[in-house]
Amino acid sequence: MPDRRSLAILTLVVAAALAAGITVHSQEAPAAEPAQKDCSLNYSNFGKAFVEKYCLRCHTAQKHNFFTRRGAPKGADFDAYAGIKDKAEKIKKLVVATHKMPKGKPKPDADERRQVGAWIDCGLPE
Ligand code: HEC
Repeated sequence: MPDRRSLAILTLVVAAALAAGITVHSQEAPAAEPAQKDCSLNYSNFGKAFVEKYCLRCHTAQKHNFFTRRGAPKGADFDAYAGIKDKAEKIKKLVVATHKMPKGKPKPDADERRQVGAWIDCGLPE
């Protein structure tokens, strides 16, 4: 049976080795983020067509009536860039994180949802 003192030393050595291992490991992989952010998506080459396909059935300034808007709140209109910009954070949450939007069909696939997130994260280039 090892005595208390050698057990304590052993514990320290193991802890130090673990700490060293963690340090070395984290030095090997310093960047958790992708090396380069792809900000090639913008309103003209992506956003406009996306909202036309998936959102404007309800979120349009052309419709004023609760029923024809299918309940989409007033002021949440995406037929112009400014309207999208206004709600960008909510759009990110509902389309990318929770998938609560769009309501009904058609639904965007996982790749399209990821693209919406990338576009918003890049600051919504026009
Ligand atoms: C079939 C109709 C419909 C479609 C299509 C639709 N929405 Fe909605 N949207 C709603 C309704 C209804 C609400 C009100 C909240 C609720 O009922 O969940 C809403 C709420 C929202 C809100 C919150 C607005 C606010 O001011 O709080 C955002 C943002 C939103 N939708 C984004 C989108 C986006 C982006 C798309 C397209 C990808 C989309 N929605 C497609 C019906 C729709």
